[in-house]
Amino acid sequence: MSSVRDYEAVRRDIVAQLKKPDYDDGSAGPVFVRLAWHSSGTYDLESDTGGSNGAGMRYEAEGGDPANAGLQHGRAFLEPIKEKHPWITYSDLWTLAGVVAIKEMGGPEIPWQGGRTDLVDDSKVPPRGRLPDGAQGADHLRFIFYRMGFNDQEIVALAGGHNLGRCHGDRSGFEGPWVTNPTRFSNSFFKLLLQLDWKPRKLATGMTQFVYEDPEAEEDEEPLMMLPTDMALKTDPSFAPWVQRYAEDKDLFFDHFAKVFAKLIELGIQRDAQGVITNTDNRLGGYVSAPKKSSTPTGPSKKGEPRARL
Ligand code: HEM
Repeated sequence: MSSVRDYEAVRRDIVAQLKKPDYDDGSAGPVFVRLAWHSSGTYDLESDTGGSNGAGMRYEAEGGDPANAGLQHGRAFLEPIKEKHPWITYSDLWTLAGVVAIKEMGGPEIPWQGGRTDLVDDSKVPPRGRLPDGAQGADHLRFIFYRMGFNDQEIVALAGGHNLGRCHGDRSGFEGPWVTNPTRFSNSFFKLLLQLDWKPRKLATGMTQFVYEDPEAEEDEEPLMMLPTDMALKTDPSFAPWVQRYAEDKDLFFDHFAKVFAKLIELGIQRDAQGVITNTDNRLGGYVSAPKKSSTPTGPSKKGEPRARL
């Protein structure tokens, strides 16, 4: 099987899936990046559990986690690729889609290696509650990201992912994009965080976020937003110098982002000198690709409703 794993063909097909005129800001790129990050960001260094190896979001236990609301769209956009290349594992496909999307949206080249395997049942799915909560502050960010093995500089670089995409009231309860061009990767997030006058606003969803009301904006123009966790980056004495540096130096940010995103998608994975993953705990061993799932994006199940197809 390994001789026919044509990852380059998969890359090309991911590129072809990015343009989505009727979805959000016209691109599946941001939701692919979030899918790659959430599939990896469950890692716990101490117990060596979670991480991208396994693609547990195929199961309700992980896919139905409210923190993953909306990612079913990203997964469904990738189903035609799984159909065309059934040999690829979901865990490889989701992480590769993130790095391809970042590059195509003008971001850095991120080193990526394949070989992740898919869990065969949900017994190894990480517990819920390991992903960050945007309503919190600096202590929470440290609690979540130190658990994965990241330091303060890496936390700030990773948070630069918010140069892309937007918040959706029906997914997280927060609303709007961080930057004016949310499908172009850049360091604007850091610049705007420092330059604009952010004011707290309570939304109809009950969540409080920070918004910038541009006095010159057209009436129907959406205000830019920041999460409470984003605001914490500029007030925390250890995070703030990195926000400043990334705002001033795009190349430095791109370099650090590429390194830290590459680290993120490799969390929990050990490889031999040939790059073959050696610590797969899949009962069947080797490169086990799960069968194709439904192509229809169905959200997390709500109380009393039947189990969602994920
Ligand atoms: C630092 C802690 C983080 C918090 C609290 C956080 C929180 C959030 C929230 C609440 C949303 C909105 C979800 C929605 O309503 O659709 C979001 C979206 C997003 N996040 Fe984060 N995030 C964090 C870190 C990251 C990281 C590390 C990355 C990638 C490097 C990232 C990439 C994204 C992207 C691309 C979106 C937009 C998704 C879309 O447009 O559908 N985030 N994040």
